[in-house]
Formats: sequence, C-alpha cells, structure tokens
Amino acid sequence: MKRGVFITLEGSDGCGKTTQTVRLKEKLARKGLKVAHTREPGGTSFAENLRQIILNPRNKISPIAELLLYEASRVQHTQEILLPALRQGKIVLCERYTDATVAYQGYGRKINPRWIEDLNRMATGGLTPDLTILLDIPVEEGLKRARKSGGKRGDRLERENLLFHRRVRRGYVHLARREPQRIKVVSARGTVAEVENKIENVLRSKFPQWF
Ligand SMILES: Nc1ncnc2c1ncn2[C@@H]1O[C@H](COP(=O)(O)OP(=O)(O)OP(=O)(O)O)[C@@H](O)[C@H]1O
Ligand SMILES: [Mg+2]
Repeated sequence: MKRGVFITLEGSDGCGKTTQTVRLKEKLARKGLKVAHTREPGGTSFAENLRQIILNPRNKISPIAELLLYEASRVQHTQEILLPALRQGKIVLCERYTDATVAYQGYGRKINPRWIEDLNRMATGGLTPDLTILLDIPVEEGLKRARKSGGKRGDRLERENLLFHRRVRRGYVHLARREPQRIKVVSARGTVAEVENKIENVLRSKFPQWF
C-alpha cells in the first residue's frame, strides 16, 4: 500500500524545522526525487483553519480540547495529504507529527500519555514515520529564534512559560531514547549550513541510494 518514504522533522518552537525542511526538499528534488513538504497542524484547508484556532493567543483552550483539535487536524492531514503522497511513491517531509503531541500535550500539558497514544493511533491509522529528525536546541535559544521570525510575543504555544518548554524538550529527548532506530537527534545549534550538513549525514546513512 505505502510505497513512498515518510520523514518527519520535530523539535521545539524556532529550532529550524521550516528552514531545514525547505533546504532538504530542494536538495532531494535536485536529485530528481519526488518530494512533498507539508506540516502539522495544517496541510489541508480545514486543518489550516484549525491551526489558526489552535495558535491564536486570543483563544482560551483547555488542554484536552487542544489535544482533540490537534488530532482532528491530524485525521484530515493523514488522509488527504500524507497517505495519497506516499501511495504515489513520494518522499514526504512533514514538520511535526505524532511525536509533537506526545511532547507538547503529554509532557508539556501533562495529559495522560496513554490517551495520547490511543488518539495518535486513531488519527493516523498507525502510520508511523520511517525516520524522524529531532532538532534539539536549548529552550531559550529556540524561543529567541521563534520570536525573531514570528513576532515578539509569539503564538499561543510560544507564550507558554519556560518550564512548559523545558518539559517539551525533555519529552522529545525521552522519545528519542525510547525509539533510537526511528528518531535521530541532531543538534540545531550552529549555522543553518552546519545543521543542514548534519541532517544530510543522517539521511545518507539511512538512504544511501539517494546520494
Ligand atoms: N541555524 C540557525 N541559526 C540561526 N538562526 C536560524 C537557524 N535556523 C533557523 N534560524 C532562524 O530562526 C527562526 C526560526 O526558524 P524556523 O522558522 O525554521 O523554525 P521552526 O522550527 O520552523 O519554528 P516554528 O516551530 O515556530 O515553526 C527563523 O528566523 C530562521 O531564519
Ligand atoms: Mg516552522
């Protein structure tokens, strides 16, 4: 059924996911590979609308409602974007996926991780990334980058306190320890080109046929 390759990029706010995914897409496309770039929450018009609701600082959203909005967006995104692209044999690069929900809503908001696991499975039908790049950066540095690009006060999640963001980072690191075959940690410190090279090295070792 699935013929393509599913790669996710994860990491805290401002770590460089968009920057690096754009570069990676261009690099692979130059080699003649078919690549799709998408992101969560979003990717479809319904899910992009949900994204606006989720990230709008004016909305007061309880943790469980937030979790369900993310998962609702994930259902549509998986069915309308991820699965069709994978069926077409594409390399799918997706910014954020199920690991983000474990890190943000599980570790960050402290929601029962078993609920999150169940909802993730329900939303995706069990579709799991072939490879996940975790861009790891100290919380303050990431937030500084995010504020530089997205406005001083940040979106609803970026406005959370430092302790929240530290729990998120710790959550990601725990996930990577639990699934070292799938999740590769790449330090997001250093220049854009340095991080890009580190990501390329991970890809080279996993998919040498692309290089
Ligand atoms: N290695 C780097 N060094 C310095 N600045 C960087 C680096 N990588 C990205 N940036 C800058 O940091 C800001 C955030 O980067 P980017 O938007 O790629 O992060 P992101 O992980 O997609 O953030 P978000 O979680 O908010 O979507 C941008 O202004 C970007 O130009
Ligand atoms: Mg981004």
